[in-house]
Amino acid sequence: MIDIEIDVAHRLLAPRLVGLFGAGSKSDATANIIPASNFTSVGVEPELVCVALYKEWDTTREVHRTQRFTVSIPRRSDVDLVWKMGAAYSHYRGDGSGGKVPEFINRLDWDWSSAGPVLEGAISWLECRVLRSITDMGDHEIFMAEVTKAAASNESYDSSGKVVADFETVMQVVGNKFSTSSPFFELEFF
Ligand SMILES: Cc1cc2nc3c(=O)[nH]c(=O)nc-3n(C[C@H](O)[C@H](O)[C@H](O)COP(=O)(O)O)c2cc1C
Repeated sequence: MIDIEIDVAHRLLAPRLVGLFGAGSKSDATANIIPASNFTSVGVEPELVCVALYKEWDTTREVHRTQRFTVSIPRRSDVDLVWKMGAAYSHYRGDGSGGKVPEFINRLDWDWSSAGPVLEGAISWLECRVLRSITDMGDHEIFMAEVTKAAASNESYDSSGKVVADFETVMQVVGNKFSTSSPFFELEFF
């Protein structure tokens, strides 16, 4: 056993599922979409999720302002797009079209939710409404939100939310190191 510096302890939770968080409507210049791995389900009745977003991100301000957001669960095949959408982290400079939303507009669907854009061709999608946010616990704002709408690719899920075929998520191990979820396996219940 080796001691690990406390300020990198989150790395010991790796790999973590990456979601793309959208906020704002198409007519808002402040609408945005970014990847985040500080994200998980935290309740089922009602369905609750929690995400921690760095206070200085534009998208964090947008979620704070609108109190709503979307989540798209991207496919492994879209990992380059995910990396580019995390521009402030990956140092992606853009293709000159004036920001992430104009650059990736052909991959964004604005009609599924009024809470924000979602990624077309993703594995699944959530629309969420913020119930509480914690702003006084460090450099991230922690949003606790209820799911107000959900959808999934019918190649991967049935309508009860049961997985029908393996899929490959984007998981962040640390920094620019990634993994994925497949192959799935099952255990017998006792
Ligand atoms: C794989 C990955 C995971 C990330 N996870 C988080 C996260 O959990 N929380 C966060 O605040 N930022 C996270 N980031 C950073 C933001 O997505 C990124 O810096 C983004 O460009 C912020 O953009 P904005 O200022 O346009 O909102 C992550 C980035 C990547 C690439």
